[in-house]
Parts: sequence; C-alpha cells; structure tokens
Amino acid sequence: MTELSPLDAAGVEAAVEAALAAFAQANDLDELKEARLAHTGDKAPLTLANRGIKDLSKEDKAAAGKAMGAARAAMGRALAARTAELEAERDARVLIEEAVDVTLPATRQATGARHPLETLQERMCDVFVSMGWEVAEGPEMEAEWFNFDALNFDPDHPAREMQDTFFVDPPSSGLLLRTHTSPVQVRAALERRDLLVEEGRGIYVVCPGKTFRTDELDATHTPVFHQIEGLAIDEGLTMAHLKGTLDHFAKAMFGPEAVTRLRPSFFPFTEPSAEMDLRCFVCGGDDAACRTCRGTGWIEWGGCGMTHPNVLVAAGIDPSKYTAFAFGMGVERTLMFRHGVADMRDMVEGDVRFSQQFGMEI
Ligand code: DAH
Repeated sequence: MTELSPLDAAGVEAAVEAALAAFAQANDLDELKEARLAHTGDKAPLTLANRGIKDLSKEDKAAAGKAMGAARAAMGRALAARTAELEAERDARVLIEEAVDVTLPATRQATGARHPLETLQERMCDVFVSMGWEVAEGPEMEAEWFNFDALNFDPDHPAREMQDTFFVDPPSSGLLLRTHTSPVQVRAALERRDLLVEEGRGIYVVCPGKTFRTDELDATHTPVFHQIEGLAIDEGLTMAHLKGTLDHFAKAMFGPEAVTRLRPSFFPFTEPSAEMDLRCFVCGGDDAACRTCRGTGWIEWGGCGMTHPNVLVAAGIDPSKYTAFAFGMGVERTLMFRHGVADMRDMVEGDVRFSQQFGMEI
C-alpha cells in the first residue's frame, strides 16, 4: 500500500470514505471492532498519515492538522453511531433469545407427603408428650416371651390362638411379628425400672408402632396395622387416673364434646380390664337404627385396665409398692373415627389422592 500523505486531501477523504463504509457494513460488534482496528488502528493509513504531520513545514502542518482532525472526528462520530446501533441490536436480540417463559409448565417434583397414619400417630403421641410422658419404641419382630409370656398369657391360653399370630420360622426361634404394642410396655418398664425403684421416678410412656395379625385385608381389617400403647407405673395410681387420662386423650383427639365410658372386659395383662368406648359421633346415642354404633350409642376405641401384678413382676417391679395402668388403641380406627374414613383399604393402597386430602405435612 502506498503511503498516504497528510497533504493528499483526496486520499484522506477516500480513506475516511472507506472507513465509514466499513463501519456501516459491520454486521455486529465483532466485525465493527475489526473495521475500527483496520481504519483507526496503529497501522491504519490515516494514523500513519497523522503521524507524518510533525515532519511537514509549518504552514502545511496547520492545514494538514485541520484536515486530519476533521477526518478523525468524522470517523469517531461514525464509529460511535454504529456502535450504539449494533449494541441496541444485540440487546434486543439477547432479550428475545434469553427470554424466560414463566407460563411453561414447571418440571419441579412434588415434595411428597407423610402418610396420614404417620402424622396421626405422631399427634396422638404429642398429647402425651405434652403431659410429660416419654415415647418408647420396640422391635416389630418380637420375642414370643415379650409378646405373650411377660404379659401373663398362659402357654396354652386361647388368646394366643385368638390373636392369629405370624410366627417366624423355625418355630424354635421363639420369634413372631408382634401382635400388639403391649410388649413394648414390658421393655420400657425393664429399661426404666432402676430409675423408678432408686429415684422414685414414675414411668409414663406411650409406645406407637406397627402390629401384625393374619387377617385378610378388607374394609375393617388389615394384616399390618398400628397401635398406640400407654403405660403408667407409679406409687398410688388408680383406675381414676386411667379414666382421667383416657378422657383427656379422647377430648384431645376428637374435640371437647367427646364422651367416654369404660366397659368391663378381659385381658390377661390387666386386672380389672375394660374396653374404652366413645359416644357415637354419628347419632350421639339418639338413633336406635344407627349403623355406626348399631344402635348401642357407643363405639369401641381401645382396651385398658390396671396392669396385672404378674406383668410388673416380669419387669422386676414390686406390685405391692407400685401400681400401673395401661391402654392400647388402633391408629387406623382413630383415623376412621376422626376423619370419617369408611374403608381401611384406602389407608394401605398408596393412592396419593387419599393422602393429599390430609394436606402436605412434612
Ligand atoms: N393389646 C390389646 C390388643 O391388642 C390392647 C390393650 C388392651 C392394650 C388393654 C392395653 C390394655 O395396654 O391395657 O387388643
């Protein structure tokens, strides 16, 4: 390329034209940068010509300086204008390309919910925790001794058959799937016995958990179900404490209008024993044709009684010094009464629409 003289007005003008044309043709900021370097960079003809001004004669310097200043200003303006245009184009494009459509369906996974039986079981325990009771748990596969013997069932007591037990192979293992939460009473009493005897600390525990019987699944039975057991051992406990505790429990679960009664019954591990009934929530005891209570006005909620002295002895506790009461109720039954669930199969089939009705408690 022949060198451009700062005095070559036509040449300078042509270089400016070329620069303006290149700026105008640049399609994006990268191309514009290339054009800028080519036409205004260190090696651009106009830059070199500008540098040559210092070698001119004094008169020529003034004229060349003026022409060159005008040329460079024209390029500067054109560059700034084209830069502004291309930046605006880029911003508009980015806004479109990176736009987020907030109306698209979300891909987020639902968090899931705990099963209503779980949350109800926890709520039932909370009633007792708020009174200072402890929550105790025991194994689902249990020793026959804890499930039956320690609870004062005779070796050939018909109740062992009545309970329709899942025994664990081989029969000599002495193991079964616990048929009720009552064995946890004995475990909890054994664990806390020393504090009771040595420090006089009463034992107050609730034991929630899964229980198993060989029932077929139908509207009112399930082979895997849940119970909550309660046990209080202290000096001077009477049936009045049992009744007051259960009455409070019923009101906490079903509302202040809940009415309870105890009805004589039999369990090997309590003497005396009782069934605990609730005033029928459907008819309130006023409808002889009520299908829920079969016209009796009462529905059974659970069993209870004063702990049999033999059970205290099995836990190493002196029944002449300490008395105890116990109770046990089904969590499924409680859910049915409390929420009007008519069919137990809804609780085990795992359809989330069932759980969703109870809210998303996590
Ligand atoms: N274990 C009994 C059952 O499964 C329920 C029960 C009755 C528990 C009386 C108790 C009790 O603690 O005192 O049918």
